[in-house]
Amino acid sequence: MTQHFAAIEGLSPLDAARSETVVRIVDLKRRFGQTPAVDGISLTVRKGEVLGIIGRSGAGKSTLIRCLNGLERPDGGQIFVEGREITGLGERELQPLRRRIGMIFQHFNLLSAKTVEENVALPLKLEGRPNAERLKRAGELLELVGLADKAKAYPASLSGGQKQRVGIARALAARPAVLLSDEATSALDPETTRSILALLKDINRKLGLTILLITHEMEVIRSIADRVTVIDAGRIVEEGPVWSVFAHPKSEVTRSLLGSIRPQLPEQLAARLRPSGREAVLRLDISGEAARRPLLSELATSIPGRFRLIHGGIDHIQDEPVGTLFVGAATETGGIAAVIEFLNHRGARVEVLGYVADNV
Ligand SMILES: Nc1ncnc2c1ncn2[C@@H]1O[C@H](COP(=O)(O)OP(=O)(O)OP(=O)(O)O)[C@@H](O)[C@H]1O
Ligand SMILES: [Mg+2]
Repeated sequence: MTQHFAAIEGLSPLDAARSETVVRIVDLKRRFGQTPAVDGISLTVRKGEVLGIIGRSGAGKSTLIRCLNGLERPDGGQIFVEGREITGLGERELQPLRRRIGMIFQHFNLLSAKTVEENVALPLKLEGRPNAERLKRAGELLELVGLADKAKAYPASLSGGQKQRVGIARALAARPAVLLSDEATSALDPETTRSILALLKDINRKLGLTILLITHEMEVIRSIADRVTVIDAGRIVEEGPVWSVFAHPKSEVTRSLLGSIRPQLPEQLAARLRPSGREAVLRLDISGEAARRPLLSELATSIPGRFRLIHGGIDHIQDEPVGTLFVGAATETGGIAAVIEFLNHRGARVEVLGYVADNV
């Protein structure tokens, strides 16, 4: 295997391992009566990658993931897991392949009559592994998720975050090729969500685990996904590296999904905007090279006027600078067009939000 990867020209061993496709979906279709829930979706997930899937309610995200773990039968298309086609297999042939796919759920789905340790070991029991091996593996996984002291506890005595940690440990028991997560943090409070995401990212890095996750929370995507795919009405409308899609959303659906995390002008300032005035208030969306250069000082030395930062800042997503600056620009008559052209030329997206008298 290693030799095969090394033979891929121009790739470091790590990149080569990453380029290995774990899941490949080709033109997948699933309809319910008149509803085409999944309407021709093709995507690949590479080894060690975290792929986020977002979309409005009813877009077809869960149906897609349910086709992948064999809970739903597609009407058309193909699904390959580690190069083996799972579509069209009978229940008996599907069983061992299903174990290559781990899944975590919004409501954890733990068995309340079994201890934490037994819950984690369950997939191995179904595989017919000996008891000693099951307990050893469950112990290691509980250690990994930080719950070694809860092995003998019952799920009812755990917090939501602890239950989800057990869910993660159980999903990893059979060493799956990919971990699927459908809204696995949406029943948790923000702080617990952050700790679960940090755990998933940690496991992703430590074990090179491939993760496909569906979420309504853009913060989840921002903090742990490498790539994001946006689905609407059963089709892919946009996809790419997270920083790029977040910095330049192309579709209306994506823009609206990102609305909650898109920086806005503070309300008291927005309320003072007028259709005309001395000073224009600009919204600058910048990323990559545009966010690295001294854009405002370049502007000030090139165009006569007074420029000031009103609000905003630059964040980093996957080490790429992505940000929004709200800038006040007081120029001579007609100067704003030159400012916009200057900024556009340097890769900033500019919107005139309105005008203020001066110095608000
Ligand atoms: N078992 C089913 N029977 C009939 N219709 C279904 C079934 N499952 C899903 N659908 C329909 O398929 C479409 C896609 O549903 P799906 O659950 O995949 O959406 P989703 O993107 O996961 O939404 P949400 O974000 O609300 O979870 C919806 O119109 C839904 O009503
Ligand atoms: Mg869903």
